[in-house]
Formats: sequence, structure tokens, C-alpha cells
Amino acid sequence: MNNFIFENATKVYFGEGCVNEYLACLLKQYGDTVLLAYGGGSIKRNGIYDEVTAILEKAGKKIVEFSGIMANPTYAKVQEGAQLAKENHVDIILAIGGGSVMDCCKAVSLASRYEGDIWNDFWMHPGVINFKPLPLGVIVTVAGTGSECNGGAVITNEEKKIKTGRDYPQCNPQFALMDPTYTYSVPVKQMISGGFDILSHIMETYFSGPNENNVSDDIMEALMKSVIFNLRAAIKNPQDYTARSNLMWASTMAENRIIKMGKKCDFECHNIEHQLGAYTDCNHGCGLAVLHPIYYRHIYKAGLSKFVKFAGNVWGIATEGKSAEEIALAGINALANFIKEIGLPTTLRELGITDKNLLKEIADSCGISAGSYKTMTHEEILMILNECFE
Ligand code: NZQ
Ligand code: ZN
Repeated sequence: MNNFIFENATKVYFGEGCVNEYLACLLKQYGDTVLLAYGGGSIKRNGIYDEVTAILEKAGKKIVEFSGIMANPTYAKVQEGAQLAKENHVDIILAIGGGSVMDCCKAVSLASRYEGDIWNDFWMHPGVINFKPLPLGVIVTVAGTGSECNGGAVITNEEKKIKTGRDYPQCNPQFALMDPTYTYSVPVKQMISGGFDILSHIMETYFSGPNENNVSDDIMEALMKSVIFNLRAAIKNPQDYTARSNLMWASTMAENRIIKMGKKCDFECHNIEHQLGAYTDCNHGCGLAVLHPIYYRHIYKAGLSKFVKFAGNVWGIATEGKSAEEIALAGINALANFIKEIGLPTTLRELGITDKNLLKEIADSCGISAGSYKTMTHEEILMILNECFE
């Protein structure tokens, strides 16, 4: 294993009824003004908004609303939230939603306590945070990003056409309330996309050094099998509490830093997907689904033993009479078949990207991961995008 330091400052309250049971008590230690942040309105339709505002009102809190946080949150939206927080002397941000709302709010928590240009000082050039961001608590409504238990905030700068994020431990939420029943109302397409995002976070970590036996890879094999099993179960019955709770916790486990310990981590597919998102505003999990099998066919020879393990231990591919390459490719094919089976897009065209001319600019703008089994060039990323197109 590589050396590591581990810390996770977020306290998690998990299970049906947790918001009712703990929210008021959790907010007691903060001042009276709460920035209530949410997305495009799903929480108004499924009743979560009414439930939370009733708790806040009963606790005597002053609510400042910050609504309309879009999927793939923009830097302009972060600035809007920071302005609101400053003007209203907000004491804590309460983010209700998925990765987009949580990420936007982490960025707001930084921006509202920082006088400089946070885009330049923290997103473009990782800076040292030597101040306390505004406290943030989150109520998770969709499983996918795992943003509730890390300090990562993925933000799109529309002007510069860059979507990127960094994990600052100081930006970990103070608390995360996770009620799996809150995810029942997530549209099936979004549930599947979030499920694939979980799988992708695990694969992007698993397919990287070290290759020798290590506990992180063992945990990841169990997590991948769990995500595949529970995603199938949740598709069959979206109100399956067991499946929803397993997906919700797997999502946290994939991104709370535990599985990354001792690992190099790749995340090249995320680098590419983020730039696809910056140019086309595509859905994150769907973009990842298109990219993964093709990217893996480009890199598997450089990480052959891990791809062989993946095929056998995750997909149960029989190995007898097959060469290592055949086994590895069978594992990648099993992943591609799963993507088709659950109804995710398999081409950029299906994702809604129809202008092939964009691909070179997108490829050239992608970050290059140092943790990949095979270090990409911008030319190879363009090849991958072209293969993804049809
Ligand atoms: O906006 P509303 O109306 O709330 O609807 C949302 C949105 O349309 C809907 N939704 C969420 N909970 C729901 C619900 N609809 C009905 N019932 C509910 N209970 O779902 C849609 C998608 O929400 P969003 O937050 O955008 O999805 P997700 O959680 O997948 O977040 C995606 C963002 O997170 C970033 C992605 O790049 C993308 O910007 N990521 C953040 C990471 C992190 N911080 O660690 C890591 C990831 O790799 C990822 O990059
Ligand atoms: Zn992701």
C-alpha cells in the first residue's frame, strides 16, 4: 500500500426518519439564520421541503432560501449563494439535494468566507485553506456522488468552459442526514445514472496501483458486487428499502476516502466526463457510462492482472482455458452489457451530443491523470471520444 493519512469529519445520521429525529438538535449549536439550499423543486413535490421547513420554524430559525441550484452547478450560482449568505449573515447552510446542491453549497461555504477569487485560488490552483468555511449540513435526496462525506465540490465555470473539483477536508459537511426513503421519488433514469456514478467511483479507484493484495481492493470488489445487485433490485422495485439503503451507503463508501487509502486512483474517465459536461451540460452518470468500457479497452493491457481479477471476482467470469487478455476483455464486456441492461446510453449521440466537431476541443481541455495504468495523451482521449461517438 502507498502511505496515507485518513480523516473524515462528517457525522452521518442514517435511516428512515433521521431528519425528524435529529435535525433540530443538530442545528442547536449554530446561530439562528439558516441558508436553506435546494435544486429545481423536487423537494417541494415530494414533501421534503414542508417537512424540513416545519422543523426549522418550530426551532425558531430564520430561513433564507437559496433555490434553483442546477445540475452541474455553475460558478455564477456559487457567487449568488455566497452573496446571499454574506448579506443575511447566515450561520449555517442546510443543503437538501444531490451532488449538485451539496457541491454548490460547499463552494458557497468557502466563497462566503473568502475575499479573493475562489475559482482561481482553490479550483484552478489548489490553495491552502487557512480559514474556516461557513458550516454546512446536508440532507441527501439521491444516491450517487457521495458528496455528503467528502470535501469535494465539482463546479462548472461556464465562461472558461471548465468543470473541475477538489477535495478539501475543511469543506466536509458537519453532518449528513441520509434517509433512504427520500430517494424513492428520484426518477428511474436519474437513479440509474447515480448508481453508475457509484460504480464508476469504485472502478476508477480499483483500476490503479498498487496491484498486490490490498484491503482497499478487497473492499471495492464487495462494494461493486453490492452496487450491481442493489441497482438491479431498485430498478425492479423502486420502493425496495433494502436496495435503496444499500445504494445510499455504497455511494458514501465510494467517496468518503476509505477505499482510496493506499491507492493511486485513476479518475481519467471523470476528467473526460467533466469536460464533456463543461461543453454540453450532459448528465454525469450517463456520460461516465458511455466512456468507461471504451476507456478500459484502451488501458487494460497496462493493468492486466487487475482486469483479470475484476472479471473473475466481480462478474464471475469463468477463467478456464482462457488467456489473461481474453478474461480481462470478458470482464469489460460484462460491464458494457450491464450498462446496456440497465438502460444507460452507450454512445455520445445517445447522450445528446451530436456535434462531432466539439470533440477535439473537449479532448484538449481534459486533465491528464497521473494515476492511470496508462497515462493518456490528448490525442488518445480524442480517439476515445471518437469511438464513443457512434
Ligand atoms: O433539482 P431538483 O429538482 O432537486 O432535481 C434533481 C435533479 O434534477 C433530482 N433529484 C434529486 N433528488 C431527488 C430528485 N428528484 C426527485 N426526488 C428526489 N429525491 O435529480 C436530478 C439530479 O440531481 P444532481 O444533484 O444533479 O445529481 P447528482 O447527485 O448525480 O450530482 C451530480 C453533480 O455532482 C458532481 C457531478 O459532476 C455533477 O455536477 N459530482 C460530485 C462529486 C463529489 N462532490 O464528490 C463526485 C462526482 O464524481 C461528481 O463529479
Ligand atoms: Zn462521479
